[in-house]
Amino acid sequence: MSAAARPMPETGSPPVPLHVGIIMDGNGRWAAARGLPRALGHKAGAEAARRTIEAAAEAGISWLTLFAFSSENWQRPADEVRDLTMLMRHYLATEVSRLSREGVRLRIIGERERFGEDTVRAIASAEAATAQGTRLNLNVALSYGGRAEIVSAAREIARRAATGELDPATLDERSFGRFLGTAGMPDPDLIIRTSGEQRISNFLLWQAAYAEFVFQDTLWPDYGAPHLAAAIAEFARRERRYGQRVA
Ligand code: IPE
Ligand code: IPE
Ligand code: MG
Repeated sequence: MSAAARPMPETGSPPVPLHVGIIMDGNGRWAAARGLPRALGHKAGAEAARRTIEAAAEAGISWLTLFAFSSENWQRPADEVRDLTMLMRHYLATEVSRLSREGVRLRIIGERERFGEDTVRAIASAEAATAQGTRLNLNVALSYGGRAEIVSAAREIARRAATGELDPATLDERSFGRFLGTAGMPDPDLIIRTSGEQRISNFLLWQAAYAEFVFQDTLWPDYGAPHLAAAIAEFARRERRYGQRVA
């Protein structure tokens, strides 16, 4: 689905992207620069996520997807994986009431089962508690990898084809998309990566086909409303063509 940028509520303002994805990078370098343990960088990163969620809702963004933990991040040292998992559990438990109060609907995309039963339960209850939110759709990508997501879709499609539930000849881009974790969601219009790195690192590979990319040097724990506003302003200056010829 190609999501067109939507005009701001105030007439005459430049368009804001319907769906923004953020690769929240630089927690480790932020901590190292201060002589702090990486865990404190991740904690400060969680605060930045909270600020940015609020700023996104204020800016009139309808969909926000935050990349918090990649499939490949499991390969980090066990103590860092443990710190990240604990932080995530803590925020799931403490942020849900605020999110639901603020009209934010939380969904988790990625292989949640890998975090274990307790976390799976905590995620399900957080999703249920915020299911009425209509102001901002917030996706948090946890144990998420774009390739793993595409393979998982292919596996399910092959299974259904083998049982005769699905005719491979009828498969197209739209129906394939229904097997992804983002089924029913608009594609991202704008993908932001912080910390100066300029790569996608397995984030929303399928969905990013026509996203605009904005790379910002800010380390994620320093991120907030002004940085998001700058990225949105840069997005508003882009000309999107979707492969078509400009007149
Ligand atoms: C982003 O910060 C958070 C995760 C990937 C979990 P990093 O931990 O990647 O920080 P840097 O890139 O080492 O600075
Ligand atoms: C991407 O950051 C994943 C997240 C922000 C969760 P990484 O720090 O893991 O990516 P690389 O290793 O620099 O590509
Ligand atoms: Mg990194």
